[in-house]
Amino acid sequence: ANSTAVDWSIFPPMKNDLILRAAFGERVERIPVWIMRQAGRYLPEFREARAEHDFFRVVETPELACKVTLQPIDRFPLDASIIFSDILVVPQALGMEVLMVPGKGPTFPQPLAVPADLDKLRPDVDVNQALGYVMKAITLTRQRLEGRVPLIGFSGAPWTLLSYMIEGGGSNTQSRAKKWLYVYPEAAKKLLGMLTRVIGDYLVAQVEAGAQMLQVFESHGGYLTKELFMEFAYPYLAEIRQNVKDRLEKKGFRIPMVIFGKDCHYVTKEICSLGYEVVGLDWTIDPAGVRQMDSSFTLQGNLDPCALYSPPEQLRQLTRQMVDKFGPQRYIANLGHGIYPDMDPDNVKVFIDAVHSYPLQ
Ligand code: CP3
Repeated sequence: ANSTAVDWSIFPPMKNDLILRAAFGERVERIPVWIMRQAGRYLPEFREARAEHDFFRVVETPELACKVTLQPIDRFPLDASIIFSDILVVPQALGMEVLMVPGKGPTFPQPLAVPADLDKLRPDVDVNQALGYVMKAITLTRQRLEGRVPLIGFSGAPWTLLSYMIEGGGSNTQSRAKKWLYVYPEAAKKLLGMLTRVIGDYLVAQVEAGAQMLQVFESHGGYLTKELFMEFAYPYLAEIRQNVKDRLEKKGFRIPMVIFGKDCHYVTKEICSLGYEVVGLDWTIDPAGVRQMDSSFTLQGNLDPCALYSPPEQLRQLTRQMVDKFGPQRYIANLGHGIYPDMDPDNVKVFIDAVHSYPLQ
């Protein structure tokens, strides 16, 4: 029983599918571009919405989530929208409380402390019930987009979500979470398996509700060693990819998936071998080097977000230099991580225009 799936024939035809074609490795006549955190606090209209409503109130109210998702689309010639939500809705669905504390960020009042705490979670949660509001926001947004650009759905990756659930918020070292990998590896794997199942269901449900591309955020990938990554991150990322692809194919969907690992330069080759159509790079990775390894997938990224502090002409030049390294095909332009709240929206326009005016053969 799936209460949030909709028949895709209700959606308006696409006027711009550049990002989907680039993701599948088809030739494009113009480079597609979007920006991580494009709906966010650097936009005055977003700050206005947030002054009225708590963060998770916006996330949980389809009308509000849709409204802020469309804010950057109405303002800039972006080539994709991403549904306004957060990776931490999955821990919420598993039964944990998460608050967005101003000036502090996401906070879990009762993080997981010992393996016995896993018994408090709801591993058999129905995501269509617990996270039905995300699927409703996706369906509504896809309709309101009127085919202007594709809509991206997303999830956090298992290791990144486990680390939040144990740390209870941001951390410089992730040492509490990593302690589990050394001291309670079986409990860690039990939790990673639980998350992998729920994330798979959640990504499939987002597509059934209207999402046209999926991004998996391994934002805390940079804290692991190669050995830890291969044991506690890689297999779950592989399972999510295979599980979601198989289930979507059976249902007749062909949906590109993006894997974005932050600070994962020490496992770039491994991440590229996971089979996702698109690999997102942060700004520490030389795109030319990744292209040399293999060209069978699309790359996304990777301008240093801080380049947006530059004066316009310098920003244009930095953007062109970035595209030179990736090459214009099999490529989706983006920043190497999310945009910061103190950035000038005018420079977002400069960045987008610089990508769009890059000459293609
Ligand atoms: O990209 C988009 O525009 C879609 C929305 C989106 C948000 N969070 C909105 C948000 C997405 C894709 C995310 C994912 C997310 N959330 C990640 C993965 C991406 C990454 O940054 O690596 C992570 C790690 C989180 C957890 C999280 N949520 C953090 C670290 C923060 C920032 C806390 C702070 O105060 O700086 C959030 C809050 C959050 N999520 C904001 C937005 C726009 C800002 C908070 C606010 O509006 O008060």
